[in-house]
Amino acid sequence: MTAALTSEQLGVLARAVSRAPSVHNSQPWQLLVRGTEVDLLERRDVELRRHDPAGRDRVLSCGAALTNLELAVRALGRDCHVDLRDSGDVVATVTIGRPRATSARAYAQYQAIGRRRSHRHRFFHNRVPAAVHRALVAAGETTGVHVVPPAHLDKLAELLGFATRVLREDRGYQRELETWIAHTHGQAAVGDGIAEDALGSEALPVAGLVRTATPVPDDAVLAAENLLVFCTDTDMRADRLAAGAALQRVWLTAASKALVGSVITQPLHLTGFRARLVSELALPGVPQAIFRFGYPAVPAAPSPRLPLGELFPPAGGTR
Ligand SMILES: Cc1cc2nc3c(=O)[nH]c(=O)nc-3n(C[C@H](O)[C@H](O)[C@H](O)COP(=O)(O)O)c2cc1C
Repeated sequence: MTAALTSEQLGVLARAVSRAPSVHNSQPWQLLVRGTEVDLLERRDVELRRHDPAGRDRVLSCGAALTNLELAVRALGRDCHVDLRDSGDVVATVTIGRPRATSARAYAQYQAIGRRRSHRHRFFHNRVPAAVHRALVAAGETTGVHVVPPAHLDKLAELLGFATRVLREDRGYQRELETWIAHTHGQAAVGDGIAEDALGSEALPVAGLVRTATPVPDDAVLAAENLLVFCTDTDMRADRLAAGAALQRVWLTAASKALVGSVITQPLHLTGFRARLVSELALPGVPQAIFRFGYPAVPAAPSPRLPLGELFPPAGGTR
């Protein structure tokens, strides 16, 4: 029989899941431990009606958490099997298996979990060796998920400019965003939401999020970036989960190679934006997220996290 995890080992899993990136740092996940099975739950009570009305970023976030969960199980020296669920609060079940040495690559990704953070600054320079670039793409490729650099940067700049104009004028949208920024307290270690000082005053894609004073980007901003677009063959919940998991594998691989990055989904939620991105950039599927990466010119601060205890639902249901 396979041994269940000790409470110390469960703490390792919880810390790994808690450090995953999530839309507006909402941390929309919980863990339900049942012996050697761990359910990853989507907290659907976390709602971003203006930014993410369909909850697709919430699912992508759960996908990122799933990668951290799987890496933590493997780092504990246990085998692991992941089942994605099509519907319901449980988005995936991770079955913890027999002792098994983890691979060097998985361990390096696991070790990068604590170092990874959103880096919404310009990069030191954008020259990333081709072999490193290939390693990042390879870390994300999985059945149904394609990780591609965007062709036609001028078209992308045009589309990001359009999104900037629309989003900064959208008062309801901006009000919601401000509540997710306002309710954090600087660099406080405990909480959710995005700290004001984690955001810059540059144009997209550096800024990450359009606020009321965000400038419109030009071609020069994009030329200084390394970008990857995560696309899926179809657009079901499992695709979004897989895309979020792939995004986090790429991000952790980048962090393990001294690179930093940030993710952008904000413009993708605008009506018609995904379709235009597909046609203008000749993408191989449905775009789910854009990842930018490079070498850091300045450090970025870590963002807060909810207390680990909130990861586990109280007996009788999720919170
Ligand atoms: C699905 C998803 C969508 C995100 N969208 C954006 C975005 O559009 N702009 C942005 O600046 N950050 C975005 N982020 C990054 C989160 O804001 C960030 O992960 C969160 O604030 C926690 O901070 P950390 O990444 O430093 O741990 C996104 C993250 C995820 C997982």
